[in-house]
Amino acid sequence: MNTQSPALDTHKKIERNVTLLAVLAFLVVAIGGIVEIAPLFWIDNTIEKVKGMRPYTPLEQAGRNIYVREGCYSCHSQMIRPFRDEVERYGHYSLAAESMYDHPFQWGSKRTGPDLARVGGRYSDEWHVQHLKDPRSVVPESVMPRYGFLADTDLATNDMAAELTALSRVGVPYSQTDIAKADEDLKAQADPDRDSAELLKRYPKAQARDFDGNPGRLTEMDALVAYLQVLGTMVDVNAAAAQEDLAREKGR
Ligand code: HEC
Repeated sequence: MNTQSPALDTHKKIERNVTLLAVLAFLVVAIGGIVEIAPLFWIDNTIEKVKGMRPYTPLEQAGRNIYVREGCYSCHSQMIRPFRDEVERYGHYSLAAESMYDHPFQWGSKRTGPDLARVGGRYSDEWHVQHLKDPRSVVPESVMPRYGFLADTDLATNDMAAELTALSRVGVPYSQTDIAKADEDLKAQADPDRDSAELLKRYPKAQARDFDGNPGRLTEMDALVAYLQVLGTMVDVNAAAAQEDLAREKGR
């Protein structure tokens, strides 16, 4: 005697037929996937633009390459989450636009050391150089490795045009001039004797000076410190946040 309802019978059939179950499960998951993915094909951009964002200068980008090469990301994230403790410690939470030109991005949750998304301008160049050469000389309890060799290693100066070309292919808006002048810009930004006015016009708010305390030589330390000093400084997040607050006040 069968007292079960037809619905249960159907269910039994599906559960006992692996192929049927797999096909139906795939269909159900596919619907969810399509609903999430399909709209992305029709909207141009999911990132809200903010004022001040610009591609990295060749020197900053070279520093970023060293940052990635040395695996700094294995201890440091560059993403401040919108939680009170993070915002109090590191500053305004990261906006999506702030990492829109990052390839590869440096988000993450693995933090042996602090988040670096807004470390630019927080310390002097001298502090960074000293800290990178011997972290324990400035922060006695630090577990960060030493990177003193960067100050003794000349920066490669002839491949930034190719680097910028590659980045422009994945959507970073470098101009033809930026690419043509890449190798020259790289040297100009770290050399106090060169004229950097034209460079600063193309890369607003870029800082041009000797970064490693050794003006006669362009080292990997110059590039890395230039990169660290620009982190979080392009966008005036507080102004953006104030504007947001004002709009909210008015809306109330
Ligand atoms: C083994 C983990 C580890 C690695 C790898 C590492 N760091 Fe750190 N870093 C730390 C720790 C821990 C601190 C906090 C103590 C200190 O200031 O030294 C720190 C602090 C810092 C600070 C100061 C941040 C602040 O807000 O006070 C900077 C800048 C920094 N690291 C840059 C780098 C760079 C650049 C690299 C790669 C060349 C790197 N770190 C690699 C662990 C690491």
